[in-house]
Amino acid sequence: MALLRSRNAKGSNASEIEKKIKRGNALRQGSSWRGSRGLVAFLLVALCVCAISTWLYVTSLDSDITETLARHGELVSPQPRVYTVQCSEDYENHKRYPGCTPQKCGRAVTDGVVTREEAQVLRRLAERGMMLAGSEGGASILDLHSGALSMGKQFVNIYRYFQDQISDVFTQEDFKLYRDVRGRIQAVIAETFGLDPALMYLTKPTFFSRINSTAAKTQHDEYWHPHVDKVTYGSFDYTSLLYLSDYGSDFTGGRFVFMDQNGNRTVEPRAGRVSFFSSGSENLHRVEKVTSGTRYAITVSFTCDSEHAISDPALP
Ligand SMILES: *[C@@H]1O[C@H](CO)[C@@H](O)[C@H](O)[C@H]1NC(C)=O
Ligand SMILES: *[C@@H]1O[C@H](CO)[C@@H](O)[C@H](O)[C@H]1NC(C)=O
Repeated sequence: MALLRSRNAKGSNASEIEKKIKRGNALRQGSSWRGSRGLVAFLLVALCVCAISTWLYVTSLDSDITETLARHGELVSPQPRVYTVQCSEDYENHKRYPGCTPQKCGRAVTDGVVTREEAQVLRRLAERGMMLAGSEGGASILDLHSGALSMGKQFVNIYRYFQDQISDVFTQEDFKLYRDVRGRIQAVIAETFGLDPALMYLTKPTFFSRINSTAAKTQHDEYWHPHVDKVTYGSFDYTSLLYLSDYGSDFTGGRFVFMDQNGNRTVEPRAGRVSFFSSGSENLHRVEKVTSGTRYAITVSFTCDSEHAISDPALP
């Protein structure tokens, strides 16, 4: 009996204790929720700090880049941003043409010559043209002057190969805009380097390029090697690039890099942005590999030697 009572007493004691524990648990749960709100806030802050430091770390992986000459997000207008560099000796191996041959060398960037709308029209032109064929590797070119278009591992002449279809793909207005834009680019180069625009001539190759991250299949696809335009193409004196898509949103990677002895200076492409430079070894450069998306641009090249002049393209 005593045993039973005591067990009973113990039992009632036990249930008292259980109640206390439950109440305690309930209280603790309430406060632990209040406490966990603090924890959530703390975790959020920690996450932010983590994200920011990861971002800083990733951008510091760009340690190859010493300086950004023009960021994607800024508008360089109306005046070009000009960086002067000392001319190399490359020009001495060629005939000199007063009023054109570089005396002053350098590089410049401007967003004030071609509008984003014009860039979009030209990009559509490039898209339609390249739809006719295109490289198997990640880099295709379309040269409206010679008609050359990448096709598989080779090139085809669009004017010969597609003949009448061409007028379905390109309009007179497209070609007019192309000529107009090249004239404006020629004018800004002449003004920036103190040249007579009438003494500089469009030269080849002048072409559209489309690059994505697909692996190269032939040497023609390997656009990323450092090079000097005057060495690669003897006739070049001034090179310009008109970007038709946006770094960071249309594609990643694919920045243009001037490789100087004391560092790498980059230009971030932006639709409508023109960057131009004297073509000698003072402007050794490369294009970073495109890592995602598609990058469109036009390379417009000028020579001082009228024998290497090419004419504007026109519909056949
Ligand atoms: C790159 O472009 C080619 C041609 O349009 C296409 O076949 C290929 O799938 C593209 N690659 C990527 C990674 O988008
Ligand atoms: C410039 O870039 C190249 C290739 O990415 C790299 O090897 C070189 O170290 C860089 N130069 C400087 C000064 O950072």
